[in-house]
Amino acid sequence: MTGTTSRLVLPRYLREEDGHRTPVAFDGYRSTALRAPLRTPVDLPHRLTEVTGPVLGEDRVAPGDADLTLRAGGEAQGQRIIVFGRVLDSGGRPVPGALLEIWQANAAGRYRHVVDNWPAPLDPHFDGLGRVVTDSLGRYEFTTVKPGAYPWGNHHNAWRPAHIHFSLFGQAFTQRLVTQMYFPGDPLFGQDPIFNAIPPAARHRAVAGFDLGRTQPDWALAFEWDIVLRGTEQTPFETDDDGDVA
Ligand SMILES: [Fe+2]
Repeated sequence: MTGTTSRLVLPRYLREEDGHRTPVAFDGYRSTALRAPLRTPVDLPHRLTEVTGPVLGEDRVAPGDADLTLRAGGEAQGQRIIVFGRVLDSGGRPVPGALLEIWQANAAGRYRHVVDNWPAPLDPHFDGLGRVVTDSLGRYEFTTVKPGAYPWGNHHNAWRPAHIHFSLFGQAFTQRLVTQMYFPGDPLFGQDPIFNAIPPAARHRAVAGFDLGRTQPDWALAFEWDIVLRGTEQTPFETDDDGDVA
């Protein structure tokens, strides 16, 4: 063929090693028994649908969305914290323009949600919802309050360690990630089957680091957490059948 015919070369994404994958079913995490597939999941090939994604744009995210401590005309109760970090791909490159959405319990460990009715107080000035888009260097930052632990009925006296839920959209559907961030040294790690479902070699990736240098005196503590999404090994480009870049 001559150079008049070209084909799209799609990026390939690194596969997570089995030893680092969180299993979809985990014995101690009761609800996974009902929602985990019975057969081994099959990795989808990386076709155009998988390696492209929605164009979200920044205009839907307001600056105040990243500060969860100011809601409904007042300040949230609790330990004020800054949660910050970078979104990277598996090649260590920053992912700019990634949408991060978080949700979390309030300082007393209660969600503003219809099915959360354990006897901890709600906070009229905290809804537990935040979002931000990473900057050109892949950085993000939230201001919030440290969430409390909460009971959840998985087993006798089961308590979730303090955590913040994260949902991320990178630049493709294969870069979608839903996960949880934990706080260092939490005494509840040992009895939590959700945390312990993460293979031991990967657990440290789910725990933020305390960063004294980024605390704000007389204002807020700071925790750093970098998030790694699957990465492209190459950028999509047009090429002809000779392999030359068109
Ligand atoms: Fe939670």
